[in-house]
Amino acid sequence: MSAIPVLYIRRARILTPEGEFLLGDVKIGGGKILEVGPELAAAGESETDIDGEGLTLLPGVIDPQVHFREPGLEYKEDLSTASRACARGGVTSFLEMPNTKPLTNTQEALTDKLERASRKSLVNYGFFIGATPENQLDLIEANPTPGIKIFMGSMRGPLLVDREEIIEPIFARGDRLIAVHAENQARIEQRRKEFAGRTDVAVHSQIQDERAALEATQLALKLSKKYRRRLHILHLSTGIEAELLREDKPEWVTAEVTPQHLLLNIAAYEKIGAKAQMNPPLRSPENNDILWKALLDGVIDFIATDHAPHTLEEKAKTYPDTPSGMPGVETSLPLMLTQAKAGRCSVPQVANWMSTAVAKGYQIPNKGVIAPGYDADLILVDLENYRPVLASELQTKCGWSPFEGWNLTGWPAVTIVGGQIAYDRGQFNTEVRGKALSFGNV
Ligand code: DOR
Repeated sequence: MSAIPVLYIRRARILTPEGEFLLGDVKIGGGKILEVGPELAAAGESETDIDGEGLTLLPGVIDPQVHFREPGLEYKEDLSTASRACARGGVTSFLEMPNTKPLTNTQEALTDKLERASRKSLVNYGFFIGATPENQLDLIEANPTPGIKIFMGSMRGPLLVDREEIIEPIFARGDRLIAVHAENQARIEQRRKEFAGRTDVAVHSQIQDERAALEATQLALKLSKKYRRRLHILHLSTGIEAELLREDKPEWVTAEVTPQHLLLNIAAYEKIGAKAQMNPPLRSPENNDILWKALLDGVIDFIATDHAPHTLEEKAKTYPDTPSGMPGVETSLPLMLTQAKAGRCSVPQVANWMSTAVAKGYQIPNKGVIAPGYDADLILVDLENYRPVLASELQTKCGWSPFEGWNLTGWPAVTIVGGQIAYDRGQFNTEVRGKALSFGNV
């Protein structure tokens, strides 16, 4: 019997499960981490070893909220372009949202996405099942899925589940995780009327205001407490929601924040126009500060990008015809590591928010930690050099980023998915395929 082929990463600065750094080697085989140590013995170093000298080894990013547009909206993005963007950005696993065409609201649609990803995705994948007012049974039975997505607001069509009497039965039945987009649709609609005729995109943050977000978060929290139902609050955008959770966050509730809600605010509309338009909208600089504090204090558990690409042509329309959403998987890690280098947080904290805590929150086995027995989803990042975000280098099909020109450190040099090198200093191995994630909640 031939031995399983092994791969060594040599002389890297390795993040340990204790949140410290060890200078050493990692031995990988059969898609798993086999050994981690200061100087692992091998039958001599081989040419296939990865030289980690000067680089930091982190667990691969797990992005728990993305919109990858396949099937049905492939003119914006597809699973090949999106997963290449992931590999370049150090994202080795993603959880994708159900607002594709057809909607992911049945087992059939979920199975179709899983099959597409198995053929096309360079990184690991999981897909949410979307709640409609009518698919209770699908929500309970669909498999495998990280959970149920409820759009309480900011959505059209069957995925809009905006009234308490249709939201409550979803919380009442079953026990799998419910992830909410928390904006109060009734308030948004009322304010749309009040601001009708305004075409400056900055009005978006006034229409979908802080209160709209707070009211929906309050309702989700109320129902989660009533049924002791596992709740995850997606892309928290306001300080008032963070303060609410600081006071009242049951142990079965988690929350996430996006890099854009930490690093951009309403001033961005003047600089980048509708590229800054998303749901929930960007807020004031004071909100950036409160969200940062909530993240540092553990009130917010992890980071997601809400990668939501739209074409430049679509973004060039006039508000309110401009679509909401911005890409993010390629820039989230360097953005956060640049903040760490600037002293706002630490590198181990970033790895926790972007990988370890996500694996824990979604009960994804064997991910998010660099230790023997864990999956070899690993990234070697360069924390010494800075490079700007350049549109010409982006892999996302939409071809733009709200962070263009930002000079960032922490770019991945090498991205390893299941023990295979998917990305190496600008080159992709497009033969690599990720695997379907499993979740402990099913
Ligand atoms: O800005 C957003 N765009 N927020 C969402 O929740 C949906 C997303 C999209 O799919 O474009």
